[in-house]
Amino acid sequence: MTTQRPPYRVVQWTTGNVGRRSVRAVAARPDLELVGCYAWSADKAGRDVGELCGLEPLGVTATDDVEALLALRPDCVVYNPMWPDVDEMARILAAGVDIVSTAGFITGHALGAGRDRLLAACETGGSTLFGSGMNPGFANLIALVSTGICDRVERITVLESVDSTGYDSPDTELKVGFAQPIDAPGLAEMTREGTAVFGDAVHMMADALGVDLDEVRFEAEYARTTHALDLGSWTIPADGVAGVAASWQGWVDGRCLIDLRVRWRKGRTLDPDWPVEHGYVIDVEGQPRVHTKVEVAPPPDFQATSFADFMVLGMIMTAMPAVDAIPAVCQARPGIVTYADLPLIAARPS
Ligand SMILES: NC(=O)c1ccc[n+]([C@@H]2O[C@H](COP(=O)([O-])OP(=O)(O)OC[C@H]3O[C@@H](n4cnc5c(N)ncnc54)[C@H](OP(=O)(O)O)[C@@H]3O)[C@@H](O)[C@H]2O)c1
Repeated sequence: MTTQRPPYRVVQWTTGNVGRRSVRAVAARPDLELVGCYAWSADKAGRDVGELCGLEPLGVTATDDVEALLALRPDCVVYNPMWPDVDEMARILAAGVDIVSTAGFITGHALGAGRDRLLAACETGGSTLFGSGMNPGFANLIALVSTGICDRVERITVLESVDSTGYDSPDTELKVGFAQPIDAPGLAEMTREGTAVFGDAVHMMADALGVDLDEVRFEAEYARTTHALDLGSWTIPADGVAGVAASWQGWVDGRCLIDLRVRWRKGRTLDPDWPVEHGYVIDVEGQPRVHTKVEVAPPPDFQATSFADFMVLGMIMTAMPAVDAIPAVCQARPGIVTYADLPLIAARPS
């Protein structure tokens, strides 16, 4: 007879676009228990987390008191803030609490020396850190799985091609170059920094493939909007960047083995008028060639009246790879782990 273990105790870190979906998912799973929530915004502290996420009250109050949250002795933090904060993450990990993150983390290479501090904190706390999301994250996992029927792999390309007009996170989007003058000096460097987590994903995929990369390269290109774009909480002026395309590449023996591309566009006045695939296109060049397209669509009962409503699907897709990984991460070895270390992760259908 197997005995069921008690639910994993979970603290939610912030309740933004992704965090609100994480809270719903954690609250819905019997093997997870929401015990606390961190509020970055002062006006969210003291409020019920259910209320902050458009749900019935959950009986858990959001707080900015990190010590009080760690004193709850959670098993895991679902880390969904706008930016990864190495000090904050190290504090959580050193306290013996695992982290599943969607905030700019896959392997930690993009954090430079911060990665070593996180590893040290994992060692101190005997804790585990895992990062995912839709892309980077799940899209890379699908690409790796897609290679599993090939006896030869020459190149793996993952393209995220979406119209992100309804994604309301201006601070993260401005950071990758949106709204800059199309000829702004340093634009590519800005995009490189803002998308550096895709470099992490190149490392993760190479590791899963057992390949030592010689080099990780980065390229970017841009499209402008011919008219000013009103995006609700922010605007892009005419001639500003409204299309950002970036490519993070893993090179070995003089060829590109892994090419992780994003092509994001906003509005209907883009020049050049980049086509949109509305999803994730994965191509494995090898024997055989494998073409995989991940297309998502709302279910029949989905209530959506605006483009922004549809972006909720994107937030669900970002939150779930991290939330679904919680039991596996709580059972994993201490340290930074990736999909290369964890067992198969799937949904827990209700
Ligand atoms: N891998 C993927 O597929 C993927 C896709 C989308 C997003 N992401 C990442 O997931 C994370 C969450 O995205 P999101 O759209 O949910 O973000 P968001 O809603 O813009 O922000 C998340 C929360 O961060 C806090 N915050 C606001 N301003 C901040 C600041 N200046 N410094 C630190 N924290 C601040 C707020 O906490 P309160 O809730 O307390 O107000 C906010 O709700 C981001 O790191 C994003 O890059 C990953």
